[in-house]
Amino acid sequence: DSDLNLVYHGLLLPKISHTEESLNYLQNFQVKDDDVFAVTYPKSGTTWMQEILPPLLSGGNLTSVETIPNWDRVPWLEETRASVVLDKLPSPRAIVSHMPYNLMPSSFFKSKAKVIYVARNPKDVLVSSFHFHQMASFLGDTGTFEEFIDKFLSGKVCFGKWADHVKSWRNPELGDRILYITYEEMLQDLREVLDRILTFLGRELSAEALDRVVNHGTFKNMKTNKMSNYSLVPENIMDNKKSPFLRKGIAGDWKNHFSLELDAKFTAVIQEEMKGSNIKFPWD
Ligand code: PPS
Repeated sequence: DSDLNLVYHGLLLPKISHTEESLNYLQNFQVKDDDVFAVTYPKSGTTWMQEILPPLLSGGNLTSVETIPNWDRVPWLEETRASVVLDKLPSPRAIVSHMPYNLMPSSFFKSKAKVIYVARNPKDVLVSSFHFHQMASFLGDTGTFEEFIDKFLSGKVCFGKWADHVKSWRNPELGDRILYITYEEMLQDLREVLDRILTFLGRELSAEALDRVVNHGTFKNMKTNKMSNYSLVPENIMDNKKSPFLRKGIAGDWKNHFSLELDAKFTAVIQEEMKGSNIKFPWD
């Protein structure tokens, strides 16, 4: 839908937050060596990373997550807010992005900036996205659930195919600059994942501070944090009454949505696309 989306290097992007200017800003962005990127395909744990990264980078300080909306606290590199907030953010900056690897700014490839890549079971990504489309007026009509599966599998959704995104970020050039985690591991043991992130970033936190971050990052607490639950967005843009942004926060909700046939079809397509990639996920 050309009213709602623009096309950037073959990728559909929502016009509400992506413009020619914002994409120009992205391309010319000067990455700093101590920047920390959290990269995700949409609906894979972005908001969660926006909640936990600032305190992990500031000795457990929760002030920013209690006072700054997530989109300004840890901005998207490619969105319109980036040019407003990123240059003013104190270092080390935490930045999120839904960009595939090849569309990162050229300064990124020359930098030492670290990346945390969060992946989520694509079936749950699809279900989360389907419900998100019902509450976000800027995303357009999904059609039926079955029709939406076809769109998702053929990459006719914002940010393209899930498998392309995941594979793009497995580029060996990244070496030890990248840490791979999953939404499912965060659900299972957030503390363990936060420990891994701290080690990756070469940082430490006292046990008490880490407890506070873990407690702050629970689904229940994020749902009531108005700096993170998107209740500050006007209802005509995001209507939490239609479907809350922080909807269920579980793994396996796809089982309540997929028939056996749809599951078989989805699995076959994704398996084919991931063939030969040597990537193992907890849900495989
Ligand atoms: S977006 O639009 O790309 O920024 O969305 P994103 O934040 O990546 O994904 C939204 C889903 O993440 C869930 N979420 C959480 N689950 C568990 N625990 C915590 N703390 C948490 N924070 C966000 C959110 O509920 C969305 O998933 P669904 O399945 O729709 O509930």
